[in-house]
Amino acid sequence: MSNLQVDENGRLRHFLSIEGLNRQILTDILDTAESFSGITDQHIKKVPLLRGRIIVNLFFESSTRTRTTFELAAKRLSADVLNININASATTKGETLLDTLRNLEAMHCDMFIVRHAESGSAHFIAQHAQPHIRVINAGDGRHSHPTQAMLDMLTIRRHKKDFSKLKVAIVGDILHSRVARSQIQALSILGTSEIRVVAPRTLLPAKVQSLGVHAYTDLKEGIRDADVIIMLRLQQERMQGALLPSSHEYFQLYGLTEEKLSCANKDVIIMHPGPINRGIEMDSQVADGPRSVVLQQVSNGIDVRMAVMSMAMGSINTAETTDPNAPNASKETR
Ligand code: NCD
Repeated sequence: MSNLQVDENGRLRHFLSIEGLNRQILTDILDTAESFSGITDQHIKKVPLLRGRIIVNLFFESSTRTRTTFELAAKRLSADVLNININASATTKGETLLDTLRNLEAMHCDMFIVRHAESGSAHFIAQHAQPHIRVINAGDGRHSHPTQAMLDMLTIRRHKKDFSKLKVAIVGDILHSRVARSQIQALSILGTSEIRVVAPRTLLPAKVQSLGVHAYTDLKEGIRDADVIIMLRLQQERMQGALLPSSHEYFQLYGLTEEKLSCANKDVIIMHPGPINRGIEMDSQVADGPRSVVLQQVSNGIDVRMAVMSMAMGSINTAETTDPNAPNASKETR
């Protein structure tokens, strides 16, 4: 996968997973995102980097934050954005993923932002797309959600600066979470001193320690002295069979409350990728409290997605453009 993601000059080509990328590329994404952060405060919230490009939001699974922040990010880069409503698209009439791809290519699109319930879908599209097309994974099955992980890293870096001194606890449904998998990879590539996962045994993957994390089944122990706590949603839609007694009992044991938070470092920040189930993963006092950075994560998502899209599009060069119909395919954007 690493070859597909990075070109021969080490530049980002597709962004499919954190796995296979090095610290330099992750740091470049964070630094580029920082360079975009001022745009929001400008009167005209736009830069012309992707003017004339067509970016397609191809969401086969529901999403609010991710889809809209990708759209906003693309618009701030001056790209034209197509939102494909899958429920009303030909996919529901039996069209294959490959046929959908070929049709969008015929419309001269430049980049696909893909969310799909099947792990590996974004990778599949990147493998089969024409060489000038760029693909960004916006979440595939349980596998990977790399832009979410990077917006989380940006949020942590803005508050805590040095990853090598941090204890980070990820709490909740680790088993079904593509977000947790990508966060663990990013935290470890960026040199985080201690990564913990906290969950009932039924929601921890087998051999979870092989990911380089410490596993806990007790919430207070798992968040003791933590600098960052990331809460995850129970992914009911991916659960098969009864993995949990009840939401009420889950909240008693794993729901974050002010009382349980007293075990953590006093400067702890609380994160959640959303959507939050209040009263299940955490109570409202914590979600809306002074230590919560949940809404900052959403804003940071725009900067990170601008960074990833402009970096990926910037790696296009003449040599790989074999399609004479590809508009602007040989132009550098950055
Ligand atoms: C996450 C996702 O879709 O994987 N949400 C998101 O992208 N904002 C996590 C979740 O759905 O719980």
